[in-house]
Amino acid sequence: MTQTYMIGNWKMNQGLKEITSFFEELKSKSLKPGNFWIAPQAIHLSQALELSGNNFKVGAQNCSEQNFGAFTGEICADSLKELGAHFVILGHSERRSIYGESDKLINAKIKKAMVSKLVPVFCIGETLEQREAGKTMEIVLGQVKNGLEGVKPTRTDELILAYEPVWAIGTGKTATAEQAEEVHTNIRKLLIELYGALGNELSILYGGSVKPSNVSELLAMPNINGALVGGASLKAEDFSHLCVATY
Ligand code: PGA
Repeated sequence: MTQTYMIGNWKMNQGLKEITSFFEELKSKSLKPGNFWIAPQAIHLSQALELSGNNFKVGAQNCSEQNFGAFTGEICADSLKELGAHFVILGHSERRSIYGESDKLINAKIKKAMVSKLVPVFCIGETLEQREAGKTMEIVLGQVKNGLEGVKPTRTDELILAYEPVWAIGTGKTATAEQAEEVHTNIRKLLIELYGALGNELSILYGGSVKPSNVSELLAMPNINGALVGGASLKAEDFSHLCVATY
């Protein structure tokens, strides 16, 4: 069965004080078990693991495509795994647009993450310009194809996709549930072409201004299997509402 996930992407936010109070407050909510994941800044992985308790998995926001070696400033997937990370967000639009990451590099990172037994949360999405030019499907499906070239998951919990329209990230503008579902349905078709029955069960998350007030409508769509959340994952109160919406 396709799993539903609620994943918080903290980006370059939350210092140690905020991490401590976030998990303290979240624990007081006594959430039932679920697929609740948090990606703090990599430098805070150990603290987040220690404070988060059993109900949360912790992961990273990026990793290198390389093995150990002379790559100053990079983050090694094997070291993330060793530290206790469960997953890694790859291909986020901020990595693509600010740091110039190409489909090819993202593909190499996905492969490296899987070899290191981290679950890639692979992000794709079109810009406003591309949407307005009627190129949404071409762009998104192209990113999926290129990013998954030679990637062969054997279980549904080995790979997660996240559709995040760039125009909806951090802007307060959410895609409507119908707009998102249209893209998710096309991604689903492609995943079935690529992976057969397994492709029908891989989780496809939506991301872009998800918040307590719009999450239920999005999650009600058959091919929206959870959310990747930036802003609304920073507050325990909001994040706990989002987690509850996955039950
Ligand atoms: P947002 O960010 O929820 O703040 O729009 C989503 C993301 O970047 O993953």
